[in-house]
Amino acid sequence: MRLDYLTIFPDYLAPLSLSLPGKAVAKGLIELHVHDLRSWAHDRHRTVDDTPYGGGAGMVMKPEPWGEALDEVLGAGGPDQAPATVVFTTPSGEPMTQALARELAGRERLVFACGRYEGIDQRVLDHARTLAEVREVSLGDYVLNGGEVAALAITEAVVRLLPGFMGNAASLVEESHEDGLLEYPVYTKPASWRGHDVPPVLLGGNHGAIAAWRHDQAVRRTAERRPDLLHASAAVSGEWAAVPAVRGDAAELLTLQLACWVGEALVNGDLTLPPLQEGLDDVTASLSSWDTYVVRSAGRLVGSVRGRLDGRTWEIGRLMVAPDLRGRGLGRHLLEHAERVAAPEATAYRLFTGAASTANLRRYKRAGYSVREVLDGPSGPAVLTKPRRG
Ligand code: ADE
Repeated sequence: MRLDYLTIFPDYLAPLSLSLPGKAVAKGLIELHVHDLRSWAHDRHRTVDDTPYGGGAGMVMKPEPWGEALDEVLGAGGPDQAPATVVFTTPSGEPMTQALARELAGRERLVFACGRYEGIDQRVLDHARTLAEVREVSLGDYVLNGGEVAALAITEAVVRLLPGFMGNAASLVEESHEDGLLEYPVYTKPASWRGHDVPPVLLGGNHGAIAAWRHDQAVRRTAERRPDLLHASAAVSGEWAAVPAVRGDAAELLTLQLACWVGEALVNGDLTLPPLQEGLDDVTASLSSWDTYVVRSAGRLVGSVRGRLDGRTWEIGRLMVAPDLRGRGLGRHLLEHAERVAAPEATAYRLFTGAASTANLRRYKRAGYSVREVLDGPSGPAVLTKPRRG
């Protein structure tokens, strides 16, 4: 990969040859070229900026030096050179992310254009787009004095992803942002330091438990620090409280119901399933004829179940869990709750599921239910019952 830098402060980019990119140069993975933009300014003062058209504070970088610099640098590799991507570092660019680092790591040539002052004349960018791919990239929602620090940061994020750069490729996979989550906390020896102990799970050799703990910590951290990456509801587990549903829950119940039963419809090849046919009025009306319970997490409705008496049988239905929160015991918790709140006269529980819903059937059997019969419909359904004990 060839990396070029256009800047009015070439010395600012000295760390490139010291640190990580320096190592990549030594390994022959990259080639670095830092250029002083002022060498393309031809007046006595080598001026690179001027006052903005339309007025306003600050100075704008003039188009001429940039135009000549880009023409020369982009043409530097001769006619057979690899296509380049020009990265303009600017607070008004797209945010720098791990995904963008991965994308840029796939390019053969990157040219960093480091702006200063109030920015670069827009025509420079328009011209650059006629010559190469252009990306305007921001380090974050704050303003630096110039784009050099951003160019250094982007370079470091990109270069460490180049094949052959990192000794241990697995460490790339496990780090923050690679799976959309922040990294879990890490510890090393000693096991106890100044009264702070390493979490006991990390001291045992149970790799499954360690992986589960790390994932849970990563989820909690991400939900807490970066709600833009993960809704806070994802961080809660095992602390579910089912409460009676109210009318105001109806719209969210309908949304969750539709989300849950599309999957059922696909598995069973049946789009006529009642939960998919209902509208808001039906769900609202059902709140009067069923005892419905909901679980909220961080304000979001993430699960629900309902029950009602039919003769001496407590019928349980609409057991649903938000798709992203499955596998954490919420479904089991809701089922147990629905059994616990059954009317005193109930002697058995009954529920229905699609005859082809093997995962549901497995779950219900594990909870003590047996299939009584399979009704005659497009998707069964299977009728399962369980005697009430105690
Ligand atoms: N130049 C000034 N501020 C910047 C930022 N936040 N990101 C990239 N380049 C910049």
